Amino acid sequence: MSLNGKVTVVGAGFYGSTTAQRLAEYNVFETVVLTDILEGRPEGLALDLNQSRPIEGFETTVVGQTTDPATGAGYEATAGSDVVVVTAGLPRKPGMSRMDLIEVNAKIVRNVAENLAQHSPNAVIIVVSNPLDEMTALTQLASGFPKQRVMGQAGMLDTARFSNFVAVELGVPVGSVQTLTLGSHGDTMVPVPSRCTVDGRPLSEMLPADKVEELVVRTRNGGAEVVALLKTGSAYYAPSAAAARMAKAVIEDAGAVMPVCAWVDGEYGISGVYLGVEAEIGREGVRRVVEGDLTESELAGLKEAAEAVRAKQADVTDL
Ligand code: 2OP
Repeated sequence: MSLNGKVTVVGAGFYGSTTAQRLAEYNVFETVVLTDILEGRPEGLALDLNQSRPIEGFETTVVGQTTDPATGAGYEATAGSDVVVVTAGLPRKPGMSRMDLIEVNAKIVRNVAENLAQHSPNAVIIVVSNPLDEMTALTQLASGFPKQRVMGQAGMLDTARFSNFVAVELGVPVGSVQTLTLGSHGDTMVPVPSRCTVDGRPLSEMLPADKVEELVVRTRNGGAEVVALLKTGSAYYAPSAAAARMAKAVIEDAGAVMPVCAWVDGEYGISGVYLGVEAEIGREGVRRVVEGDLTESELAGLKEAAEAVRAKQADVTDL
């Protein structure tokens, strides 16, 4: 099996390091670069990950590199990346909303995006920093990349959380559950019950409406529930699984349809905003936004989410 391409993960916290681990263990990429501003951390994690290669049986090489946000030193190690996952920024503390991070993370993400764009002008960037929809929009602005080459990870995660809750509630294999959430990675996350099935049967036939609503609320608060339990840091196993799958779909030019945060330009009657939608992912990033059938109330929810996110995305341009 021949390895192909270079992926960089910016930020070697739990989210970044587990993403790098998953990407390396896929044994698909030639190189995984892991960066952080904490001197020695990415180098140490890379060494550790490489030492797991004989046991896990992957040939991908992991490179750790400390970067200096003031000078951009260290970014040369990321040069020529095909895909980049941006996890840089602070996670939430218990009681915080994702939006509470907007000012501090905007500064970090802008700096990262500018440095990445300089060294990897053809990369596809997957943003996971919070608040997600806003940081995705900011990354596109700061990188100057075409909009289809910048996307955010949220829908894969929210959908996975929703599916897991449904599977546990019904006591069925997660593989039999299909769910979908669109909208924002936050308060205006839009569940799409009409697209939720268990073994092909509508979810509405399997669970009463109030139970479904309870699981939707738990999904919407899925990140906060983990933050409250951990007390320091936020979720990373499910988030990194989602981000790594997206990066794999890019390098494999898979054409997989995934719920992601993508630039919407006319689909669903919505334009000019980064929003959680289904999109076909390939080597060039978002090949196209896939417009599915929505009920009237689902469409209204999506439009409401678009307007909420649009207002906030306009704010980040000045941060
Ligand atoms: C979450 O929902 C980190 O935003 C991410 O857990």
